[in-house]
Amino acid sequence: MDIASFRALLTPEGQDVLEEAAAADLGEGALLGTASRLRGRHDPALVAAALTQARFRERALAKFGRDARRMYFTQAGLEQSTRASVAAHRTRRFAGRSGTTLELGCGIGADLIARARAGLAGDGVEIDPLTAEVARANVAAFGLEDVASVRVGDATEERTDGYAAVFADPGRRTARGRVFDPRSYEPPLDTVLEMAGRVPAACVKVAPGIPHEAVPEGAEAEWVSVGGDVKEAALWMGDLAGDVGRRATLLPNDTSSGALEEGHTLTPGGVGDPDVRPWGRYLYEPDGAVIRAHLVAEVADLVGGGLADPRIAYVTSDVLRPTPFAAAYEIEDVLPFSVKRLRAELRRREVGVLTVKKRGSAVDVDRLRRDLGFGGRRKPEGGALTVVVTRVGDAPVALLTRPDAAPGR
Ligand SMILES: C[S@@+](CC[C@H](N)C(=O)[O-])C[C@H]1O[C@@H](n2cnc3c(N)ncnc32)[C@H](O)[C@@H]1O
Repeated sequence: MDIASFRALLTPEGQDVLEEAAAADLGEGALLGTASRLRGRHDPALVAAALTQARFRERALAKFGRDARRMYFTQAGLEQSTRASVAAHRTRRFAGRSGTTLELGCGIGADLIARARAGLAGDGVEIDPLTAEVARANVAAFGLEDVASVRVGDATEERTDGYAAVFADPGRRTARGRVFDPRSYEPPLDTVLEMAGRVPAACVKVAPGIPHEAVPEGAEAEWVSVGGDVKEAALWMGDLAGDVGRRATLLPNDTSSGALEEGHTLTPGGVGDPDVRPWGRYLYEPDGAVIRAHLVAEVADLVGGGLADPRIAYVTSDVLRPTPFAAAYEIEDVLPFSVKRLRAELRRREVGVLTVKKRGSAVDVDRLRRDLGFGGRRKPEGGALTVVVTRVGDAPVALLTRPDAAPGR
C-alpha cells in the first residue's frame, strides 16, 4: 500500500468500497470472488487497498475490539501497535496531567489515540510517511484532531521544550527482524531515555526481557500481562515514576464487549526472602509479570507460603488464599521425576485430560506428553490432571496437581 492508494481510501468513493469490502466475505475461499465483484464497479487499485484494509481490521479485532472497524492500519503498524487494554491502562496513569505529550515514533497511533480519548493532548512524530498518514486518519476517525496531531519526522531530532511529557514505544521489529539489543531499537533506547529525562514526566515501553540493571535510576519499571501473557514492560520516569521502583500489572483478557477493565497491580511490600520449605498442600504459579518484576516474595507473603527451591518461582503453601497474582493448584502427590512411573500413575488414576507445566526443568513438554501417551487427541474418558515438572535442588520432581483450585483469573 502506498500513500496515494491509502489517501484514495479516505475519499467518499474509497469509503464506500471499504464499507462494501468490510461487509463481504473475506475468507480465503471467497476473497477472489469478492475482489472480482468489487472490481466490476470500482478502480482495481482502490479495491485492492480496501480489501487489504478490511482484512487488517478483521485481524485487529483481537487487539482493539469493535474500534478496529473504524481504524486504519499498515501490516507493521498493526503488529507493533499497543492493544487497547494496555493502552487504556497506560492512559489511566497519565490521567489528570495537563500539557502536551510528545510521542516519539507513534506508529498507527494506538497509544496516542487512547490518551487523546481521555482528553490528554499529544503530538505524535512518525518517521514513516505512510504510517504517519494512517495515524492521522485514525485521529480523524475518532474525531480527535483538536487533541492529537501527527507529523512526519525523525523523533530524535525533535525539541522537547515546552512538552509536559514524553511517551515512546520504540520499534523492536525492524527491517532486519526482531531486535533484542536496545541500542538497535528504532528510535534507539538510549536516545529516547535521554529525551525522556528532559521533560517533567515520561513513559517508555520496552521489551519485557529488560534486565533490572537496565532500568534507569529513579525510574519505575512496570511489567504488564494480559490474560496471563506478559506483553511488555514500561519505564515510568519523572513525576510519573512514583516511588515503588517496580510493579506487576495484570490485565484481564480483552473482552468482546470492549470494556477495558482495570486489572490488578502488585508492588514491593517490604517482605523478606520467602522461607524454603517442603511442598505443602497447594502450589501457586505466579503470573509472568510478577516473576519478571521480582515480586514472587510478595505473592508468597500473600498466600502464607514459601518456596520449595529458592531459585524457582513456584510458591507452596498449606492454605488456599485466592489471589489474582498466581494460579493455585492442589498438590495430590509429589513423585521423583520418572517417565515410567508417571505413565503408570496416570493410567492408575484414569487421567483423560493432561496438562504439563514446567519450571526449572529441561524436559521437552511435547515429547513428555507423547511419552506419557497423550500425544494425540484427548482421551474420551477420565478426569483432568496437571503435572508440574520442576526440581528441588538437583532432584527433578513431578507434582500431580488438580487445577480446580485455580482462583478466577
Ligand atoms: C512500536 S511502533 C509504535 C506503536 C504505537 N505505540 C502504537 O501503539 O500504535 C514504533 C514506531 O516508531 C517509528 N520510528 C522508528 N524510528 C523512528 C524515528 N527515529 N523517528 C520517528 N519515528 C520512528 C516506526 O516507524 C514505528 O512506526
